[in-house]
Amino acid sequence: MRMYDIIVKKRNGFELSKEEINFFIEGFTKGEIPDYQASALLMAIFFNKMNTKETADLTMAMVNSGDVIDLSSIEGIKVDKHSTGGVGDKTSICLTPLVASVGIPVSKMSGRGLGHTGGTIDKLESFNGFSVELTESEFINNSNKIGIALTGQTGNIAPADKKLYALRDVTGTVDNMSLIASSIMSKKIASGADAIVLDVKVGDGAFMKTPEEAKALANEMVNIGKSVGRKTVGVISDMDQPLGYAIGNALEVKEAIDLLKGNGPKDLLELTLTLGSYMIICANKAESFEEARSLLLENIENGKGLEKLKEFVEAQGGDSSLVDDTSKLPKANYIEEVKADKSGIITKINTEAFGLIAMELGAGRETKDSNIDLAVGIVLNKKRGEKVKSGDIIAYIHSNDKSNIEKAKNKILCNINISDKIDKEIPLIYDVVQ
Ligand code: URA
Repeated sequence: MRMYDIIVKKRNGFELSKEEINFFIEGFTKGEIPDYQASALLMAIFFNKMNTKETADLTMAMVNSGDVIDLSSIEGIKVDKHSTGGVGDKTSICLTPLVASVGIPVSKMSGRGLGHTGGTIDKLESFNGFSVELTESEFINNSNKIGIALTGQTGNIAPADKKLYALRDVTGTVDNMSLIASSIMSKKIASGADAIVLDVKVGDGAFMKTPEEAKALANEMVNIGKSVGRKTVGVISDMDQPLGYAIGNALEVKEAIDLLKGNGPKDLLELTLTLGSYMIICANKAESFEEARSLLLENIENGKGLEKLKEFVEAQGGDSSLVDDTSKLPKANYIEEVKADKSGIITKINTEAFGLIAMELGAGRETKDSNIDLAVGIVLNKKRGEKVKSGDIIAYIHSNDKSNIEKAKNKILCNINISDKIDKEIPLIYDVVQ
């Protein structure tokens, strides 16, 4: 078999066999197939797509490229959660300790930022010392001891995805349904949880721009999960405006902590309760959505979710005193107001553009080797549907470089539409696939 023939076959629009997909994944993981040939195949897949069988074969080839963690020594039904990626999506930071505080083991594998979207690991590194470099036995011990453990794609879990993910990020091949489905599901299957709750984002800040595309992605992932015996639920949620108000690592961590203190933004709270309820139901700890939701709300009110976050941060080497005193989180040197240039209603926030503005301020990576600045980003002061008067503050820029503030300000103003009336209401939760 030759990689060249596989590239040409997909370029010409034909279905790849399981053997061809395995040949590509094995060779690429071992470093025998170079990045330039892998990039060519990714672009051919991007344009000519893969069918359901090819996507499932690609997923399993990536699972088998490394180790599969055995979590059977952790008691109970272990649940994992994953988002397809969004702007301001800090849900995992408040959701996972909250669900763990209800007594459900959360064994989660997270990623770093990709494209214009942020990543949970980058955000959690806002806690001094926090590490996701857990060995398999630390991962299992933490899950058993405190009911929550979070790892990066360390060791040898789906190494093919790790290499492909970095390559897709710099070759314009992220937003393809089969590549996203296989990337997410290979990691989720290899990291061993019994149940997986997927947050499939839709809107201009998501990789899937329309509800139809998001539903197709959710169906594809749910079917892959079920085919290997994992309970899988896909919640399709809005990414046509940033989630909550904060965009940028430490800024988002603060917002997630605020939620656990009972002061979270409405949309972040609603999404956390929805995803959390499905996690609880998958773990057989509640019979109805209402029962699950009230368990979560109770643990926000009584502070158990917040306590679990502290335990979790401490168990992974981080400074948990930042949870009580968020003023110790990384802080930018300059905070600049952005004021509305006219009056009206905010009808649209160009979400992908906001992800990119935050990235340019330093919150995300422009190349796979860039360093990120944990302190910087944007905090919105108004969201879609809110009235503003000319001169009202609509956002704050947090920056460590005075020279990039003016450009960010202009871009923010260009990417918020203010007009007379909103033409359509957008739901926070579109659909649930299970
Ligand atoms: N998240 C992933 O893990 N992979 C993708 O391809 C997109 C989002």
